[in-house]
Amino acid sequence: MAIVSVRDQTLKQAAQIIKEGGLVAMPTETVYGLACNALNEAAVQNVFLVKGRPAINPVIIHVSALVDVHKIAHVTPLAQKIAAHFWPGALTMVLPRRDNSGLSALCTAGLETVAVRFPSNTIARKLIQMSGVPLAAPSANISGTISPTSPRHVFDSLGDKVDMILAGGACETGLESTVVDVTGDIPIILRYGVVTQEHLEHVLGGEVQDGVAQTTHITSPGQLLKHYAPTIPLRRNAVDVAPDEALLAFGSIKFMGIITGGAVSDLPADQIRNLSESGDLEEAAKNLFSYMRDLDTSKFKSIAVMNIPNEGVGVALNDRLLRASQK
Ligand code: TXA
Ligand code: MG
Repeated sequence: MAIVSVRDQTLKQAAQIIKEGGLVAMPTETVYGLACNALNEAAVQNVFLVKGRPAINPVIIHVSALVDVHKIAHVTPLAQKIAAHFWPGALTMVLPRRDNSGLSALCTAGLETVAVRFPSNTIARKLIQMSGVPLAAPSANISGTISPTSPRHVFDSLGDKVDMILAGGACETGLESTVVDVTGDIPIILRYGVVTQEHLEHVLGGEVQDGVAQTTHITSPGQLLKHYAPTIPLRRNAVDVAPDEALLAFGSIKFMGIITGGAVSDLPADQIRNLSESGDLEEAAKNLFSYMRDLDTSKFKSIAVMNIPNEGVGVALNDRLLRASQK
């Protein structure tokens, strides 16, 4: 089994694997990443191969210090301000790429820009430091499927195709980082995450554009692909549930009924997961992918998801659920 507990010795081994062009699944505060040396073309190619990821979809480069960002990208004053406030953390910046970045062309899908993230997870940061190179790390799952928030999820998805899976427990935030295009004067959100538009506007004291809602501005390749999909259908804003359907609840289930009669509280425990009984959106984000996986079994016809308020982190949750429900 490729899953190992995190110790000094296993971290050293992981760094050695990266240096030799291998693949290591590492925990981050958002989701598990499939990491490799971003400067090594063959290694990056292998990441795309293992994930079945289309070559048009560029990956995020992970660093553990600001100086390392300067080596691969042009850091504008606006980017510096965002970094000062949100890094290390669950935010990725798309920046103009340096010509001499040394990055494999596959990382950036031939674009003039590069997506960079400085994670807060200490295991990820140690691995980046010990590897001595920037790490390309897309989520550690087969492209298009539910993102992994535990080492077990990684193993279930990728098995022995990964040289090592570092077991760093469940991810803290549970949703991929917010991706922000910082190549111009006004930041544009390309992927929603726990760092919200209001958050950014508040800190920057100026306008931040929503590039996800404005679908005319598609600069994030792969933005519109089907994503996060369970193997069984998923329907949103459910007000009741069929007897052979799983329920992904949010908040109180007091008023949820079974279509053929009866209360959902009578359903077997394995047919229901509640993202947050108290209606806490951050708790729901942490649980979303894990609970979707729990309910994604052929025992059920589909997954019915209760309404989630479209505010704050709820915007990111609804975005993931909408993509998961695409046919
Ligand atoms: O939380 C995360 O960001 C996780 C963890 C492992 O760090 N990583 C992750 O990577 O979600 P990935 O490869 O699954 O998602 C990368 C996202 C995609 O939406 C991609 O289109 C966008 O970032 N992206 C990457 N490079 C870009 C670029 N140069 N311009 C625009 N979008 C870019
Ligand atoms: Mg992904």
